[in-house]
Amino acid sequence: MSKSVQARIEKLTREILHHDHCYYVLDQPEISDAEYDRLFRELQSLEEEHPELRLHYSPTSRVGGKPLDEFQKLRHGMPMLSLANALTEEEFIAFDERVHRFLDLPQDDQLEYFCELKFDGLSINLTYRDGNLASAATRGDGEVGEDVTQNIRTIRSIPLRLEGSPPPAMIEIRGEILLPIRDFERLNEDQLARGQKVFANPRNAAAGSVRQLDPSIAASRPLTGFFYGMGSVEGVRFERMSQFEDQLENWGFRVGSHRKVCRGAEAVLKFYREILEKRDSLPYEIDGIVVKLNRLDHLDRAGTVSRSPRGMIAFKYPPRQECTTIEDIIVQVGRTGALTPVAMVAPVRLGGATIRRATLHNQDEIDRKDIRIGDRVLIQRAGDVIPEVVQVITSARTGKERKFRLPDHCPVCESPVERKPGEAVTRCVSRNCIAQLKERVRHLVMKDALNIEGMGEKIVEQLVDNGLVRHPADVFGLGKQDFLELEGFGEKSSQNLLDAIEGARHPELYRLIFGLGIRHVGEATSKNLARHFRSVPALAEATEEQLLDVEDIGPEMARSIVEHFSHAENRHELEALLKVVHPVAPQQVSASSVLAGKTVVLTGTLPTLSRSDATKLIEEHGGKVSSSVSKKTDYVVAGEEAGSKLEKARTLGVPVLDEEGLKSLIFGG
Ligand code: IVH
Repeated sequence: MSKSVQARIEKLTREILHHDHCYYVLDQPEISDAEYDRLFRELQSLEEEHPELRLHYSPTSRVGGKPLDEFQKLRHGMPMLSLANALTEEEFIAFDERVHRFLDLPQDDQLEYFCELKFDGLSINLTYRDGNLASAATRGDGEVGEDVTQNIRTIRSIPLRLEGSPPPAMIEIRGEILLPIRDFERLNEDQLARGQKVFANPRNAAAGSVRQLDPSIAASRPLTGFFYGMGSVEGVRFERMSQFEDQLENWGFRVGSHRKVCRGAEAVLKFYREILEKRDSLPYEIDGIVVKLNRLDHLDRAGTVSRSPRGMIAFKYPPRQECTTIEDIIVQVGRTGALTPVAMVAPVRLGGATIRRATLHNQDEIDRKDIRIGDRVLIQRAGDVIPEVVQVITSARTGKERKFRLPDHCPVCESPVERKPGEAVTRCVSRNCIAQLKERVRHLVMKDALNIEGMGEKIVEQLVDNGLVRHPADVFGLGKQDFLELEGFGEKSSQNLLDAIEGARHPELYRLIFGLGIRHVGEATSKNLARHFRSVPALAEATEEQLLDVEDIGPEMARSIVEHFSHAENRHELEALLKVVHPVAPQQVSASSVLAGKTVVLTGTLPTLSRSDATKLIEEHGGKVSSSVSKKTDYVVAGEEAGSKLEKARTLGVPVLDEEGLKSLIFGG
């Protein structure tokens, strides 16, 4: 009996760890959340009945653990060094020249550099003994850190056991723990809603989560980690950095997807510029790239200076923090009536954009940071999100600064505002507030929703101000004459806008769902909802329980959706919309579709299809598009300038198609 239970426990453990890897590292789940939960629960209950059979690397050990009184200190096997910085291209060239001198090589030798992203998180040192995660420590002073093993074990993308090739007797693996930007924003929204302190940036949020004494807090935060380095090692040798990182990937770690071996400084500069272009669209924060001599013998030979390896450099991007002055504080009224105080600041350049405003979140945050009009402040921006005020530079105060309080009436419609007990948000209670209406209309017509081209913020504003749009559905009742009366409209522009409105009457279902502006429901969620419910009325009737069955929908989202449709006003608005907009449900994918259940990775530029067109084509035919190549990838579709993904496909023997090949696979030919 116990033999077969043991075998079952071992099998479940192996399977769940495999699915964790697919989901959290490769971003390519192979089973549904519901199936995963079933496996997990079965393992949990078997382990409860037979605690002696529980494996120490069991996935159930990721949850929980008792709160600690304090962290123990842990000495690193090898010190954690730091990196010298290059802030400009010239400084990088100077680094390259220096490295040549230290290696005693002629300046025209093209050195082999390994380039990757510089993740902006909390550095961590993991120790694996005989392939098992034995401990995890923060950097501390570089020699001794804090033992945060309990918290790190809760991060599902971190292997509890090294998979694949035989593990070394001991190895220290170094990387960065971080919180993706979207999760950071969501965490802050929750913190705000619960009247708790918001985190200044994703890095602080990650650090704050890892340094919690109660591991259940870390477990509740969607932390992840990228790994790139080693400390002390027994029992393996590597020749090149690139080879080491490939091994990390094979062991089951997340490594940066943008990593490249570059020959010579020019190639590094090209990589640096390419990544800068992509910086805003990455799902996590980076503050530069790290350039490392790829040959480990070279790296050794170059040695260290002031606790930094001479053969590595952090090649940084322009900072996203800057000082400026708050000239005024205005109040914005959002889609749901929330009043948000916004600082109008003296324009500054920040990470490549000119910033004129920064969010102050709510009154509590203003009070907590003691922000006043006229203050000199530090502002910052993460990813492409709205900048925020981090702190006041109090030493610059003159005494002329003025305190600010949110008004007790809506600045737009003058209705009273309300702040519910326990909530940090102040809301305009009127449903007829035109500020809210403008935001709802703007959201409905935006690019990712109904995509009415040409109907920007200014036009929505005029339409509402002139009383032409009193409900979102009114957009579809507008005539040419209405536009001709607006400022700046002529015959042609009116006709164009009218055509755009006509063109939006039959949107894909998910676009309408997204356009409704339900709190927490973004584009990806809308797609899942559309596939699952196939009509808006079906969605509007769904219970929380039914919603929880949908891919990637958690309790908070489910609650928010049910809440949205429980308001009579929202239902009326929806009914009116459905009279004028006729969404198209996604095609039912039959099991016979060529791509049903297949995973496809796109890389490079295709001759005629854009990224989003290709994705749509694949999804319409039952396939799933993923961003990274693994053994589970069924096809890689490669275009011009395809990079490491193509190489990887070739190494793994994944079939590679060009655009023509994809089309003939789908359409035959
Ligand atoms: S290699 C000698 N690679 O940046 C230290 N570090 O400013 C070797 N970091 O302490 C570090 N991404 O915490 C390396 N791809 C990357 C990195 C990276 C982020 C952090 C790391 C380091 C700090 C130095």
